Amino acid sequence: MSDTRSDLASQRRKLLIASSGAGVVAAAATAVPFVASLTPSERARAAGAPVEADVSGLSPGEMMTVEWRGKPVWILRRTSDMLETLETNEQKLADPASEEPQQPDYTANRHRSINPEYLVVIGICTHLGCSPSEKFAEGTVEGMPADWPGGFLCPCHGSIFDLAGRVYLSQPAPTNLEIPPHKWLSASQVLIGEDDQGTA
Ligand code: FES
Repeated sequence: MSDTRSDLASQRRKLLIASSGAGVVAAAATAVPFVASLTPSERARAAGAPVEADVSGLSPGEMMTVEWRGKPVWILRRTSDMLETLETNEQKLADPASEEPQQPDYTANRHRSINPEYLVVIGICTHLGCSPSEKFAEGTVEGMPADWPGGFLCPCHGSIFDLAGRVYLSQPAPTNLEIPPHKWLSASQVLIGEDDQGTA
């Protein structure tokens, strides 16, 4: 990716992060506290430190965004209807079984998550790094085709992903969205950037 294009993608992501709600502010504040006062080695550690997110305020069908290592990480609480679409739509996907190494082993399943209800995924398109948009409503409600089951649309070049971040066939994006290492500390607390195999 050229520097200019990379800068543009980074700016777009920053805008999306900035507009995605209270979860962002809380997580960013946790992840990068008083960065200016840290030594270089402390700063490096802070930039890669795991980020804890509280999902207790998420209703079914809602998504929040937290920042980890400067990237937007989406946490989507899927409804049972959303989970059903993961099964019925697989013939249209490029890598439905998550065979490409885009996720930790423990999320290489149909729902691409530890707990089927919660998708934890990096919101950066695998084409050129833009941040896809939520298109959760089925059908034409959000300008998608009539048979759209809900998912994500990358506005840059039109790549579409399902509600597990799996890319459709013949899209500009070559692979599924990336799943970060993570683990659940409780029913409502998820730690992003660390799992039981160690820190990423
Ligand atoms: S960056 Fe997503 S389709 Fe091009």
